[in-house]
Amino acid sequence: MNSFIYDIPTRVYFGENQLGHLGKELSKYGKRVLMVYGGGSIKSIGLYDKVVAEIKNAGLELFECSGIEPNPRVTSVNRGATICKKEKIDVLLAVGGGSTIDATKFIGAATYYEGDAWDILTRKTRITKSLPIVSILTLSATGSEMDAAGVISNMETKDKIGLMHPALFPRVSFLDPTNTYTVDAYQTACGAADILSHIMEVYFNRNQDLYMLDCVMEGLMKTVIKYTPIALTEPDNYEARANLMWASSWAINGFINGGKRQAWSCHPMEHELSAIYDITHGLGLAILTPRWLEYTLDETTVSKFYQFGVNVFDIDKNAEPMEVAKKSMDLLSDFLFNTLGLQRTFTEIGIDDSNFSIMAEKACGGSVLPGFKPLNQKDIENIFSMCL
Ligand code: NZQ
Ligand code: ZN
Repeated sequence: MNSFIYDIPTRVYFGENQLGHLGKELSKYGKRVLMVYGGGSIKSIGLYDKVVAEIKNAGLELFECSGIEPNPRVTSVNRGATICKKEKIDVLLAVGGGSTIDATKFIGAATYYEGDAWDILTRKTRITKSLPIVSILTLSATGSEMDAAGVISNMETKDKIGLMHPALFPRVSFLDPTNTYTVDAYQTACGAADILSHIMEVYFNRNQDLYMLDCVMEGLMKTVIKYTPIALTEPDNYEARANLMWASSWAINGFINGGKRQAWSCHPMEHELSAIYDITHGLGLAILTPRWLEYTLDETTVSKFYQFGVNVFDIDKNAEPMEVAKKSMDLLSDFLFNTLGLQRTFTEIGIDDSNFSIMAEKACGGSVLPGFKPLNQKDIENIFSMCL
């Protein structure tokens, strides 16, 4: 087992009726609050009014930055940072899904930088610090509410870049499953695919010496497979939404990594798709993941597939490992494309092979993605082709 540091500093208020703690938590950082949110769903679900009431009751001063896009743009980050500098904001409050929280993280960091926030993403400059961030999550998917990462798009350069920094951890996150009752079937399905992918990117690993974490990951995957269909048919089922929400946070907050060291594979490939085609992150992952698994399956990796098939999909453990492996991929595809109803191919969502070469080159950084199976540009192009 490799050595590692465990450090997840986000305080979580989980469940209904926790918003009463918001004013107290924000007040720890000052009086001037910038609320960041997306295209208006928080207003239609009645959350906006509740949040504003809590902020006013606490005697805090409210500023707003709305219109954060899905696949958040660096232009929005710059807009937010300008407000922070001008209004001398003390604390940021992100209310929304991963896009809003991610944008808020870089607004916080860009407030301490005089140039274009894109310089932070491209590593032209380093993050020194960030404004403190509090989040209220409304969509279970990315885990941004409890991790130190964010991903930002630049529509001019057709890039989507992620970055992690300890300063970007939300200090506090409010996770009320009832705030996700209004998430539609498509976003619920995409969120589930994203959570699953975050786990699978770590689970499919060659250092197989963290049995305890493998068991945790299998439990998290089973949670997504059990509860997403319930959330789809009963959007206001508290038990289902609560289990998905907590699984979303723990899938990517660092806990399951333990000492495992291996690059992720599907995420770098998907970010290139989102960068060019502006597709929903979870949908891109759903299409890529079964093909990536198929591409990585061979005699050296089959034991992990066997473990996955037996422990996650309850396939007969007495069957041949290769047979279990293939069946597990079939069951995963059935879950993603039939149960969740997500589109199965790039062709169905209007993506052809014209950008495969450039996307593959960027995804592996012009070299090799050192993942479960190391992937060079040609490998990634092959996987993209399997998705057509
Ligand atoms: O913009 P609003 O009006 O808020 O509507 C959103 C948006 O249209 C809507 N929505 C959110 N909560 C809702 C709701 N609609 C009804 N009721 C609610 N309660 O859903 C749409 C999608 O929202 P978005 O925030 O874009 O979705 P998600 O949470 O999936 O975030 C995706 C972004 O996160 C990045 C992705 O790349 C993508 O840019 N990721 C961030 C990660 C991280 N920080 O660690 C890791 C992930 O792998 C991922 O890359
Ligand atoms: Zn993801």
